[in-house]
Parts: sequence; structure tokens; C-alpha cells
Amino acid sequence: MKKINIAIDGFSSCGKSSTAKVVAKNLGYAYIDTGAMYRGITLYFLEHYINFTDPHGVHEALQKIELKFVPNLQTNQSEIFLNGLNVEEEIRKMYIAEKVSEVAAIVEVRRNMVAQQQRMGKKRGVVMDGRDIGTMVFPDAELKIFMSADVVIRAERRQKELFEKNELVELDKVIDNLKHRDHIDTTRTEGPLRKATDALELDTTFITFDEQVDIIMGLALSKIYLD
Ligand code: DC
Repeated sequence: MKKINIAIDGFSSCGKSSTAKVVAKNLGYAYIDTGAMYRGITLYFLEHYINFTDPHGVHEALQKIELKFVPNLQTNQSEIFLNGLNVEEEIRKMYIAEKVSEVAAIVEVRRNMVAQQQRMGKKRGVVMDGRDIGTMVFPDAELKIFMSADVVIRAERRQKELFEKNELVELDKVIDNLKHRDHIDTTRTEGPLRKATDALELDTTFITFDEQVDIIMGLALSKIYLD
């Protein structure tokens, strides 16, 4: 059976990761959460007091970082390890969300991450979600989806996720953080968030999670079997 790469890009908290995870599982593909990689770098930079504006410090730090996705056999989902330590939970916290877009705008960080991501998808059969997958990482992906949703809906979903992890954050603060990240993500010079010309747009404001999955599965299966 033909294997394809699926790129899912879009704004923060549109449901990209949760949708991508299910699609990958259904197809027997690897799921790669590229946002987790930028979050992992951010955690390292914060823990080691790396000055984001010092290119030398950033370069040195990147040489010392190893990011790995390791499957959790209990949940059947892959989790991210930073230099051998499982940081899956830590990187989802608000203090990381507040800094990650700044780190993801650093040119050397992006080039390093894009190169790693391209290696991961070389043999095809991956579902990757992020901001620049369809434009920079896999411009040749067979299926590209660009997800969007109303910012208040996105913030409510994000607030619920944080609450489930025992972090209570006011809705206004979540909205501000999403808008701030959208701004940095869309205006940076290297790999800005942009819909690839051949990506299909999916607005998830008024559709359910299952509907999102069904739409993408339908598109994926037609690419695999009919193209
Ligand atoms: O998808 P996420 O919210 O976990 O992503 C965290 C941040 O990382 C987000 O603000 C933008 C950045 N990011 C990026 O610049 N490029 C990617 N491919 C993935 C994420």
C-alpha cells in the first residue's frame, strides 16, 4: 500500500494534534508533534538561562539538546524526551506557552528542527502537525490541511486542557496568549505560519472532533487508494 505524508498546519489550539494523533493511529502511521519539539527547546533554554537574543549561546545550547519521541506502551501514544527525560507534561504548561513562539522564531532553532523533522518523514507514512509543515518541512506532502477556528472557541478548548492538568488560567489570559502566539507565528521571517497554496482549509469552529477526523481520513484514504 502506498504511504503518504500528511501535513497538518494551522493556528494554536485548533485541534491539530488531537486530530493528527487519531488519523495517524487509524492509518498505522507515526504521529509527530512538532510543537512539542519547539516546546522542548524552550524548556531547555529556560532551565539553562539561555539568552534568546544571543546567537552564540543559542548555537551552543542546540548542540547539547537531544529530543526523542518514545512510545508510551500504556497509552499507546508517543511522548517527548529531552536529553533522556520525559518532559511531555512539563512542556504543556503555561510558562512554556508564554515563551515558545519567541524561541520558535529563532532562525537557527527552526533550521535545526526542520532538518530533524525532514529526516523523520523521509520514508513517508507520517502525520506531522505544526505551522510550517506544508510550506517548509514537506512541501511535497501528498495531503496538506490548514486548520483554523474562532479564537474564543480555541481558547475555551485550551483552557479546558489546562484545567484537566490542574492549571486554572482565566479565559482572557488564554485568549491573549493565543493572539500573541498567532501574531509571532504569522509574522516571523523564517517559516511563518502560512497556508500552503495546495493545502485544504478546514475551519473547525462548528464541527465536532469526530467530524474533523472523518474529513481528514476521507481525504487521506482517497490520496492513498485513488491517486
Ligand atoms: O502546536 P503548539 O501550540 O504546541 O506549538 C507551540 C509553538 O511552537 C507555537 O506557538 C508555534 C511553534 N511552532 C512552530 O513555530 N512551528 C511548528 N512547526 C510547530 C510549532
